[in-house]
Amino acid sequence: MFKKKTAPLPPGKYRMGGTHFKNDKAFIRTAVRDVRRLVEYCDLNTESSLLDWGCGAGRLAVGVREEFGRIRDYHGVDIQPELVEWADANLAGAGFRFTCLDVSNERYNPDGSPERTLAAESGSVDAFYAYSVFSHMNDDDTPAYLRLIGEALAPAGRALVTCFVEEDVDDWEENPEGYGPLEWKGPLHCTRFARSHFEEHVRAAGLAVDRFEYGRETDGQSLYVLRLR
Ligand SMILES: C[S@@+](CC[C@H](N)C(=O)[O-])C[C@H]1O[C@@H](n2cnc3c(N)ncnc32)[C@H](O)[C@@H]1O
Repeated sequence: MFKKKTAPLPPGKYRMGGTHFKNDKAFIRTAVRDVRRLVEYCDLNTESSLLDWGCGAGRLAVGVREEFGRIRDYHGVDIQPELVEWADANLAGAGFRFTCLDVSNERYNPDGSPERTLAAESGSVDAFYAYSVFSHMNDDDTPAYLRLIGEALAPAGRALVTCFVEEDVDDWEENPEGYGPLEWKGPLHCTRFARSHFEEHVRAAGLAVDRFEYGRETDGQSLYVLRLR
């Protein structure tokens, strides 16, 4: 189903995942872990339409293949052409597709368009996945994209997203000093929300928190499962 499995990933300034995907095994292990969580938390199954927003080079697609072979529709969307081209050349096939969007993010595509889109039909997405995407996002894009997620979800759909949230901090902060395991450098390397502020955005988008797991994801991010209110 997949065209090639061994082509090396392309180089890039802020590719994805930093040092977290040390080798192919770790890359695949985290993908399978996340597909299993999508099954448990978002009812992902072979009939699902899954939107992997900020898919990078398609890590989650590898997990879908390992667990299911294929599902009805895996759609990976990103704004870094070299990653999407790699994913498309190596991972696309029956049930797997990728779309590159030229929209703006100060870290990954600063010259992109300010017109935000998820490239999804309204009400069409059963399972939405955004791992380490809101962890690199400003406080205007975040509520706007949460609204788009609300529009894209099917009535019983669920969204699994990760982000940095803490109690008793500023509503939104870029590269907070002394926070987490890294020294944050460059635009939107780490964006941290006050938990109450992020959850206000969630509510304003017509969404509700189905599950919250504090601090166990990459670099100390938290996990949310969101659903329509
Ligand atoms: C840290 S990487 C995570 C990649 C992938 N989700 C994973 O966990 O392997 C963040 C990704 O989000 C993408 N991204 C940032 N803003 C985006 C936007 N507005 N639309 C789509 N992708 C976006 C970046 O290009 C980058 O590939």
